[in-house]
Amino acid sequence: MAEHVRMLIPEEQVNKRIEEIAAKIDADYGDAPLHLICVLKGGAMFMCELAKHLTMPVSFDFMSVSSYGSGTTSSGVVRIVKDLDEPLEGKDVLIVEDIIDTGHTLAYLVEILGRRHPKSIRICTLLNKPERRVKKQVKVDYTCFEIPDKFVVGYGLDYDQRYRNLPYIGVVEFGPDPGEGIGAEGSGTKREETEKTE
Ligand code: IMP
Ligand code: MG
Repeated sequence: MAEHVRMLIPEEQVNKRIEEIAAKIDADYGDAPLHLICVLKGGAMFMCELAKHLTMPVSFDFMSVSSYGSGTTSSGVVRIVKDLDEPLEGKDVLIVEDIIDTGHTLAYLVEILGRRHPKSIRICTLLNKPERRVKKQVKVDYTCFEIPDKFVVGYGLDYDQRYRNLPYIGVVEFGPDPGEGIGAEGSGTKREETEKTE
């Protein structure tokens, strides 16, 4: 079926908001070193842009997780595909994510990374879909944008591994040119029951 991406948040607005969030993080941590953990692959573009605006000493690490999901919802079964290279002991850790949807991924990450004795652990996300939250206990410290329950791509986020390179955030729509409207019911964003690397 024909597929296109409708602009939701333009590039300038995304970058401006990331700069604002970076200023908040700067103010909160001061000169203390900050250890950024990028959740691959979706968080990569966001973390790079965010880090450019931070002024304290910053270190990077990367991890990759996968979740089993049905349709557009992850089931909560999360698995580490690539673990961190560095220990977290005594560090101020900031987890950098592309999007929080059900919250399963971050609930799992905060739990397992919290056991590695960081000095502190906080969450920074580019996008947040609060309507979809299942894991209500996940506390998000920094959110760039709250968005409605639509399947979005761009700025690191994918649909079947595509669109990650778009410099803006858009909604994937299916079918003939929708004009104003957002894709109708059953808009094709459903994914098979499968293990998905984030
Ligand atoms: P959660 O465990 O349900 O919070 O899912 C989080 C992960 O699902 C994110 O890190 C994304 O990789 C993926 N995801 C959730 N919603 C979207 C979306 O709208 N577009 C692209 N990926 C999404
Ligand atoms: Mg992700």
